[in-house]
Amino acid sequence: KKVVLAYSGGLDTSVIVPWLKENYGCEVVCFTADVGQGIKELDGLEQKAKASGASQLVVKDLTEEFVKDYIFPCLRAGAIYERKYLLGTSMARPVIAKAMVDIAAEVGADAVAHGCTGKGNDQAIITWTVRFELTFFSLNPELKVVAPWREWEIQGREDAIEYAKKHNVPVPVTKKSIYSRDRNLWHLSHEGDILEDPANEPKKDMYMMSVDPEDAPDQPEYIEIGIESGLPVSLNGKPLSPATLLSELNAIGGKHGIGRIDMVENRLVGMKSRGVYETPGGTILFAAVQELESLTLDRESIQVKDSLALKYAEMVYAGRWFDPLKESMDAFMEKLTEKTTGSVTLKLYKGSVSVTGRKSPNSLYRQDISSFEGSEIYNQADAAGFIRLYGLPMRVRAMLEKGI
Ligand code: ARG
Ligand code: SIN
Repeated sequence: KKVVLAYSGGLDTSVIVPWLKENYGCEVVCFTADVGQGIKELDGLEQKAKASGASQLVVKDLTEEFVKDYIFPCLRAGAIYERKYLLGTSMARPVIAKAMVDIAAEVGADAVAHGCTGKGNDQAIITWTVRFELTFFSLNPELKVVAPWREWEIQGREDAIEYAKKHNVPVPVTKKSIYSRDRNLWHLSHEGDILEDPANEPKKDMYMMSVDPEDAPDQPEYIEIGIESGLPVSLNGKPLSPATLLSELNAIGGKHGIGRIDMVENRLVGMKSRGVYETPGGTILFAAVQELESLTLDRESIQVKDSLALKYAEMVYAGRWFDPLKESMDAFMEKLTEKTTGSVTLKLYKGSVSVTGRKSPNSLYRQDISSFEGSEIYNQADAAGFIRLYGLPMRVRAMLEKGI
């Protein structure tokens, strides 16, 4: 029997390897996904996994797939959770879990295991687990899922270190951050420590992807984002792959202090949680894509799209990436934004992104019609009749009230 374990090289996942072998008598294939979190010592990772008892370590670079197939659909949908959160962590779970399902098939494993311990609190663990396991269920319902922390006796760090020593597993020397953080190419999240009091302002040195807007350059920077069918494709006229575009925008946005979000959110299981997010490139991309829709979509399309975006975001947050409802909404979003092609010019300055221009070959805006200069198509004489009919329900109600 063989199990694929989501492996980071940290203490928890290192201990899970011998634990799985001892309790399930199975071969352990470790898997590390690169979603742009900045994997340290990639070279050492394989020896480390093997030293813990794994038969092999599989490393996969998922960055392009993550941006193209997970981040971009959310961007196109305009998915924002609870008015602020750009879903950085939520989107990363299904891409990692899907890769685990694929690797299990490749190496002939009958089970997958995920280690989620030391995340600080139970509600965070539940969210994490839901996101992974719903993906496993959707993609391969026959796969067994082992979640060691649900079964084992190991309580906390001291126990884990002791277990590691007993099984001759090298104890990784990782500096334990005071914050619970999660990083990928789209964002970096911070939770815990002083943030647990929602009244506390985050410390300046907590941030890692963006400078303090106060310290950002005194000169604004203008950039142009090219968009094709609702998806960003270029920066300042230069076509870029999804992941390259995003990392360039992270650098530019970070330099200008863009994309910091401080919020109190409702976790999946109900408890409120305070989190701070840095999403520099993502914030720029959201501004650009939404702006172009103002030219290419009519009023009702925008309304329906925005109302579905709420549900879409909720489903992504709740781990329902591969749910048919969510996939159908993707089809809807794809169709609706088919004509959202063009470019948006943005001005970046000390933490703010402002739109300064937008262009589209499919623009529904016609200067000859919208102009204040008067036109053939829009005829003042048509207005009187329109207003009389348009206001009819209001007149009828007022007549009733006044007994007319
Ligand atoms: N609260 C966010 C979410 O649920 C971010 C979670 C960050 N994860 C973590 N393990 N620190 O998507
Ligand atoms: C996750 O990391 O996917 C969720 C953990 C959390 O809710 O903090």
